Amino acid sequence: MTAAADTRLKVEPQSGWTGALITGVDLSNPLSESEVQQIREALLQWKAVFFRDQTLDHAQQIAFGKQFGDVTPGHPYEGDAAPAGFPEIHTVSPKAYDQRYGVNYRKKQGANGPGWHADVTPLINPPSHSILRAEVVPPFGGDTQFSNVAAAYQGLSEPLRELIDGLRAEHRFGANFSAERSSEKIGDHVRSNPLASIHPVVRVHPESGERVLYVNPSFTKDIVDLSPRESRHLLDLLFEELARPEYTVRFKWEPGSLAFWDNRAVLHLAPRDVDHLGHDRVLHRITLVGDVPVGVDGRESESISGERFGAA
Ligand code: SIN
Repeated sequence: MTAAADTRLKVEPQSGWTGALITGVDLSNPLSESEVQQIREALLQWKAVFFRDQTLDHAQQIAFGKQFGDVTPGHPYEGDAAPAGFPEIHTVSPKAYDQRYGVNYRKKQGANGPGWHADVTPLINPPSHSILRAEVVPPFGGDTQFSNVAAAYQGLSEPLRELIDGLRAEHRFGANFSAERSSEKIGDHVRSNPLASIHPVVRVHPESGERVLYVNPSFTKDIVDLSPRESRHLLDLLFEELARPEYTVRFKWEPGSLAFWDNRAVLHLAPRDVDHLGHDRVLHRITLVGDVPVGVDGRESESISGERFGAA
């Protein structure tokens, strides 16, 4: 646990590798330089930080985010699903997803979908950070999990790390559930504005210099340097490694909770244990403008399709 002399802010780790609870700070007001610095440091070490009992509205959530970077539009496929007057807000709820993508989108992804992911990695510059705020939460269930992909990379054997350090992979929105063939809104989105990029399989974190495993089962289609069969087997192995329980933390939401995570160092897994209970779950996310990933060899990612995702 750490605390700076001039604030009440405390950082309490929540697992051995991933996630820290930050207390002693009110996010609805402008933060001091020291508070911003301490939150940044906690993010670099723990990859995701959590806050409780905050009273932010949409405007205050955006103002909080702006102290850490430029805020993007809610989502490249937001359409008419953003709350009026707040294009930066991406609401996460069954109703918002049905409105944004079509009613069969969630079902098509299966019981475990959308799976581990970082936000919108098919973009050439995926969001650096996400900030998710809970408004309505179910009485039980609905937790979000996070996994530290710098630790997952370090846990691999050296020969495997050497192999994947030089590989690149295609990330494509909707590839893993054939969205381009869908007659729903999701099909219109991916046909009219396909999002796809080639990213390094191992990314160098631009702030910490750490190497991170930069593939995820929601968006990574294949490793472009390998045969399809080799790619499938290697991706399956990496997907299993990045979800190992020792690298994860599980966050239980309460109204007024916030999770703030670094998409360049952690993956997250949305819950799939609540739909059948019929409880409502409404959260609001913003994302910060990200940089173009760079691999171990210094090569940047390449865009296949889609624009750079800038500030809203
Ligand atoms: C997300 O993928 O950003 C949403 C996570 C969640 O619903 O818990």
